Amino acid sequence: MKGRHLEENSDMVDREIACHKIASAYPDVVTLVEAFDNRDSIDNKSVHYVLELCSRGSLLKTCEKMAEKGLLISKDQFLKWAIDMAKVCVYIHETSFIIHRDLHAGNWLVRENGTLALCDFGCS
Ligand SMILES: Nc1ncnc2c1ncn2[C@@H]1O[C@H](COP(=O)(O)OP(=O)(O)OP(=O)(O)O)[C@@H](O)[C@H]1O
Ligand SMILES: [Mg+2]
Repeated sequence: MKGRHLEENSDMVDREIACHKIASAYPDVVTLVEAFDNRDSIDNKSVHYVLELCSRGSLLKTCEKMAEKGLLISKDQFLKWAIDMAKVCVYIHETSFIIHRDLHAGNWLVRENGTLALCDFGCS
């Protein structure tokens, strides 16, 4: 579950939800199960997202943990991730004209099986 309290720009939140819902159809995007939109509420303006759990957390965290243990990412793993990342970006752009605009290691999640899932469509 991820939540946003909204002093944030409401149009950007609309775009985040719309883009994420569309992009969710692609396997390498974290599944958006539901967005609970309380922006109309008087005292608690917020949006909460229920997402597929990616149990290994972000790619950033995964790399930091490996570095702590003195481990390197293998060339094969690096290439696979890089190709998978490129494929997601091409797919969401070609099918829906979505540009993520905030690609960094904190916005790629790692599933239990090691595959990547793109998250955080807040700048899309
Ligand atoms: N579905 C998920 N499974 C596991 N971890 C997650 C999931 N979604 C988010 N996270 C963790 O939360 C972090 C932030 O998530 P996200 O990028 O979606 O939010 P954000 O908009 O960047 O949040 P903030 O504005 O607080 O930085 C990720 O880097 C990851 O560590
Ligand atoms: Mg983020």
